[in-house]
This record gives sequence, C-alpha cells and structure tokens, in this order.
Amino acid sequence: MPLDIIVGTQWGDEGKGRITDLLAAKADIVARYSGGDNAGHTVSIGDEIYKLHLLPSGIINPNVTCIIGNGLVVNPTVLLGEIQDLFVRGIDVTPQRLKLSDRAHLVTPGHIALDQSAELAKGDKAIGTTQRGIGPTYTHKTARTGLRTGLLADKDSLLDAISRHIESVNQKLLIEQRIPKLDVNEIKSQFATCSDLLTPFLADTSHFLDDALNGKANVLAEGAQGTLLDLDHGTYPFVTSSWPISAGALLGLGIGPKHVRRVIGVAKAFTSRVGSGPFPTELFADAAERLRGSGQKPWDEYGTTTGRPRRVGWLDLVILKYAVRVNGLTELALTKLDILSDIPNIPVCVAYNYHDQVIDSFPADLKVLGECEPILDYLAGWKGDIASIRKRNDLPLNAKKYVDFIQEFLGIPVRLISVGPERDQIIIC
Ligand code: GDP
Ligand code: IMO
Ligand code: MG
Repeated sequence: MPLDIIVGTQWGDEGKGRITDLLAAKADIVARYSGGDNAGHTVSIGDEIYKLHLLPSGIINPNVTCIIGNGLVVNPTVLLGEIQDLFVRGIDVTPQRLKLSDRAHLVTPGHIALDQSAELAKGDKAIGTTQRGIGPTYTHKTARTGLRTGLLADKDSLLDAISRHIESVNQKLLIEQRIPKLDVNEIKSQFATCSDLLTPFLADTSHFLDDALNGKANVLAEGAQGTLLDLDHGTYPFVTSSWPISAGALLGLGIGPKHVRRVIGVAKAFTSRVGSGPFPTELFADAAERLRGSGQKPWDEYGTTTGRPRRVGWLDLVILKYAVRVNGLTELALTKLDILSDIPNIPVCVAYNYHDQVIDSFPADLKVLGECEPILDYLAGWKGDIASIRKRNDLPLNAKKYVDFIQEFLGIPVRLISVGPERDQIIIC
C-alpha cells in the first residue's frame, strides 16, 4: 500500500503537525524521517494542545503505529520526557505503538554543549539554532564517530562509548573556554536509565515499514523543519543539518521510491522563519505584529520549541515554486488562511528584483538572495472570520481567489485549506 509524504515548504512551522494529525485518521503508520527535537509540532484537539518534538504527530491517534526513523537524531532523555508527558495525559506510548529505529543517532549533553559553544563562537553570525545539539550530532554521524540508538540495547558498550565521547567533548570545551565541562558520571547514569527504558522500543524500522507497505498499511511520512532549512537545498549555512525535503523521507526511513503516492507540501498562507538568514518578504514592527500576533493565542507565531518570536512576512511564491520542484509536490495543504482575514489588500511575492533584474527562480547564492527585493502582486482581501467554513465554495470570493491564485501560479492543486488549528477546521477540496 502507499506512502504519502508530508513536507514543509517554507522555513518550518507551516502546520505540519496539524496536517499530519488530520491525515493520520486514515493512516496505519505515521513515521518521522528527519531532524530531532528541534522540531515543534502542535496538535490542537479541543482544550488539549500537544506540542510534539520527537514523537510523530500520529501518536495522538490511538489506532496509529508510530515510527522514529533512522534519519533522526534522538535525545533519549527528551524522548522519555515526551512519552511520560503523554502518559500523564492519558496516552499510553507502548513499544507496540512506537518503534524507534536502531540506526538513528543519539543526541547527548555533549552535543548540546558543542552546539551552544559553536553558536557563541559565531557571535553576530550565529545561525540561531535551537541549541538542541542537532548540528554536532549530524556532524558526528557523517564523521562516522556518532552513537547509534542500537547501542541502547548493549548497556556496557553504550556507557563505554558515552564515557569516551563526553571526555573528548570536555577536552574541546576546555580549549574553547566558552561552556563549563560536563559531568561524565552523571551523563552515564542518565544513559543507563535510557538504555533500560528505551531498549524495548528499538526495531529495524526499515524492515517493519517494508513489510507494512507490501501488505495493506497506509503509511504517512511526517517531515520536520522545511524545504529552506534543508542542508543541501535550503538557505545554507542558515539551515538545519538534515534533509527535510521529500527525498529525506526515503533516506530517513530506509524505503524505496516505488511506494510513494502523494507528496503533500504544507504551506502557511504567509511566511515565517526562526533564526538568522535572508528573508525577502520579511515585515517589521506593526505590520509584522499583525501576522505574528501578540503571543496570547496558542497559534501566534512564537517558536514551539524555543518560544522565540518568529520573523514573519508575506507569502513568497518564488519559494513555493522552488518547493514544488525540489520535493516533487503533488499537492498543497494551505494553513492559517484565517489569519489573513480583514487585510484590505494582501501582497504576494511573485518574483524578485535583483539590481533591476527580475529573478523568478529561487537563487542558491545567499548574497544574491539577501539583495533581492520582492516583486509584489496585491490581491483583494476579504472580511470576517472564516474559521467555521468547511467548503471551498463557501469561502468569501476573495479568499477563494487567493487560493486559486496560488494554485494556478504553482500548477498543483490546493487540496486542503486549514482555517484554524482544530482538527475539524479544515476544508477538504
Ligand atoms: P509545524 O512545526 O509545521 O508542525 O508547525 P507548528 O506547530 O510549529 O506551528 C503552527 C502553529 O499554527 C500551531 O500553533 C498550530 O496549532 C497553528 N495552526 C495550524 N494550522 C492553523 C490554521 O489553519 N489556523 C490557525 N489559526 N492556526 C493554525
Ligand atoms: P519544525 O519541524 C522552524 C531552525 C532554527 C535555526 C536552524 C538551525 O517545528 O518546523 P538547528 O537547531 O536545527 O541546528 O537550527 O533551523 N529550525 C527550525 N525553524 N521550525 C523548525 O522545526 C525548526 N527546526 C530548526 O531556528 O534557524
Ligand atoms: Mg514547529
């Protein structure tokens, strides 16, 4: 049976968690394929708001089996904390419901310290990472010095490897003098507990998925971060250290492309970004606050993982066209359309002006991107709350035109329109 991939089309926080939770109703398996607890995915069900960092958003649905794929970097303490938080809220995450790949990589306090130290060293050139140790863990993975999750099942080897790893990090920290050195014994004891509690969750998830896909299972791959944070295709170096694009799903789950059916790009009706780097349609001051919100509403644009105010700007169709290309999107899920209500004329970026030259394809050169001015079309706005609308034809005419404009520009259908964070606040087209 098929694999559908959910991917972020912008700089993350597009509403992937919300769309995954929605589509999980028809899935048997939901699998995260990249990143780590730098992700913050929100699922809103009535009064309950779940903020998931490592657990796939499908976990809220009791009929779904969840997978943490080999492409992830996993902080085991954070994972146990998340499992515990859900347990307290009545969701039991058992080894039957959650499979942790034995080929993922472990994030340690050493990686977090290295992340913090590297950011401090960069000064005003800092990436603005989530400081979750993501970059250093993927660095160790590619340097072939990482610690794989499979080690959890062999406590003696795990603790031995942790000792050597933390001692080597400490030597580095001592030279850099930016972060105090770490307590090896304390970390060993944390990892001993993780070994006891997480070993039952370990599985060969590539094998598990292959069996499921060759059987009757519907599998949903849940992306983290977004296309422009991709290590290869994003705004390097202001990116994360993994592959959030659709190809990352195959890599990060260990399955081949023959199973793929839909590639669903999640796009916010405007743009946001956390961290540093160029952002052509960025708004500031009051204009930014209009899109960001004040922080009072749960969906206001403040980081799910870090609480940082997100940078915000108008919708950038140059970015979305790029996302259609590099991900091979078959369709779009548009979120937060409700936030644009009552704006008289809504600017949409259709190309860039680079020193009087029109650029309509997303540039690789960050210096060029940094000097691009957005070329804006102004689409007529609409009035009133659209959160209770459930049919595309019932949307105000100009809201419909806004969606149609995006669809025609990109050449792929908008198949989901989200008008609020709740499960049912959706228009299925
Ligand atoms: P993710 O990282 O892509 O899963 O996105 P986040 O969860 O970090 O951020 C998206 C935020 O927008 C969350 O607070 C969601 O509950 C909220 N959200 C998602 N879709 C909608 C929508 O259509 N309207 C509104 N108002 N909020 C939404
Ligand atoms: P979700 O899955 C938004 C950003 C950070 C920083 C850069 C590198 O919720 O969409 P890292 O800690 O990964 O080394 O930071 O990437 N970033 C995100 N921004 N949403 C995310 O995840 C992000 N994950 C990482 O802010 O700019
Ligand atoms: Mg997020």
